[in-house]
Amino acid sequence: MTDTSKQDQVLIFDTTLRDGEQSPGATMSHNEKLEIAGLLDEMGVDIIEAGFPIASEGDFEAVSDIAKNSKNSVICGLARASFKDIDRCMEAVKHAAQPRIHTFIGTSPLHRDITALDMDAMADKIHETVTHARNLCDDVQWSPMDAIRTEHDYLCRVVEIAIKAGATTINIPDTVGYTIPRESSDIIKMLLERVPGADEIIFATHCHNDLGMATANSLAAVEAGARQIECTINGLGERAGNTALEEVVMALKVRNDIMPYATRIDTTKIMNISRRVAQVSGFPVQFNKAIVGKNAFAHESGIHQDGMLKNSETFEIMRPADVGLSGTSLPLGKHSGRAALRAKLEELGFELADNQLKDVFVRFKGLADRKKEVFDDDLIALLHDTAGGEQNDRVKLKSLKVICGTEGPQQASMVLDVDGVEKSADVTGDGPVDATFKAIKEIFPMTTRLQLYQVQAVTEGTDAQATVSVRLEEDGKIATGQSSDTDTVVASAKAYINALNRLLVRREKSAPGADVKEVKYTDAS
Ligand code: KIV
Ligand code: ZN
Repeated sequence: MTDTSKQDQVLIFDTTLRDGEQSPGATMSHNEKLEIAGLLDEMGVDIIEAGFPIASEGDFEAVSDIAKNSKNSVICGLARASFKDIDRCMEAVKHAAQPRIHTFIGTSPLHRDITALDMDAMADKIHETVTHARNLCDDVQWSPMDAIRTEHDYLCRVVEIAIKAGATTINIPDTVGYTIPRESSDIIKMLLERVPGADEIIFATHCHNDLGMATANSLAAVEAGARQIECTINGLGERAGNTALEEVVMALKVRNDIMPYATRIDTTKIMNISRRVAQVSGFPVQFNKAIVGKNAFAHESGIHQDGMLKNSETFEIMRPADVGLSGTSLPLGKHSGRAALRAKLEELGFELADNQLKDVFVRFKGLADRKKEVFDDDLIALLHDTAGGEQNDRVKLKSLKVICGTEGPQQASMVLDVDGVEKSADVTGDGPVDATFKAIKEIFPMTTRLQLYQVQAVTEGTDAQATVSVRLEEDGKIATGQSSDTDTVVASAKAYINALNRLLVRREKSAPGADVKEVKYTDAS
């Protein structure tokens, strides 16, 4: 095994809670953000970008609470190039033992046009705002948004200004996922060669995945001298997403022979956080996704299986255990007791308090009554089922009966508890799920639009649970709900109701004019 202790460190900057969460539909609740931040901290992420404090009261609270709870990670907040943004950001991150302000402005011709600032006016603004940030905080990161499409001379000029004004990290974003590895590397090399003071700060790389090259571009930047990679769990992020943390970290680990750089990440925590982010964001991981996809370690073909049995290295460049996948273990069943359940959950990395275990045990027994064997993935789905668990949910499913089959129309008879009052509906539809969703709408009318309806089998077999994700939108507000059940229609109803309850919370909490989606790429003037 390679001794990485003397190698150059590459800092891992995770922006799942900022750039990832800004992806439409990936909105997380306050508690979910705190939980994910805790997992990131625990796995060794150097810097957590916790949010965009000026964007909304909710974002501000989340960044402040993450800052208060952080143990080892630097906690960073995003701010546009305005004193107001930067002050608000500092207010939120100041609670962290190691706070960071990340301020940015779009420097490419397209972005300069939007802000109506010419090159000189923008250069002045960068000087003023970075100086202001540095007066508040010792750790300041500056980003020329759309750096890749910024004229090289101008990029060198503004990077120099930001360094002179006190920036300690300069991030080079490929905002639209436009670059290729050679260019990503050349730009970092150019900045290191041409900009005075460049050797005293850290260069970061921030790649989007529009052309599917985010991981390759990030690694190319590191080879050229960047020492911070900005990434998200599962590559979550707008459009095709951001660089996936698990991909760059595992690439650096597996190919340490030719990329001799160390990270602080405990890679055995990857699977657990990947599942949790998929769950809370409502963005399931595609089966063939590198590192964390369901098939990433599956060897189906006969030739592969034969080779694997003789020597696992034939077709495996990393071991499942390296990313926290336990080997095949025995499933639980309806005779399994509480101690067996606790032991299994601990093996999967979940330590539950006694009252939590009690609740999970009741649900486990319910599942084991319906399903002969309860596999690890069933338990994980059960633990992460967000539907129906909240005492203060306004809408709860009491009962659902569905008639379906070849003789239509299909019919759903549903009873919901709405604010403590039972209401029912009998509705026909084009299929059982359509009838079920129509029944919910009849009982609780809302002008929501269904943006996503997705079903995934948790395990194999006809008695497998289905995990259903539902994304609803109302007046630009988006909420995702999820639920798992052996009955796909019940899982669908619960996921819809879960999304509805979350949307209702967002509706109640929303402050006029304060929505992160609206301000993301609008530079402050
Ligand atoms: O992609 C981007 O340019 C960003 C900046 C705000 C750093 O996310
Ligand atoms: Zn970005």
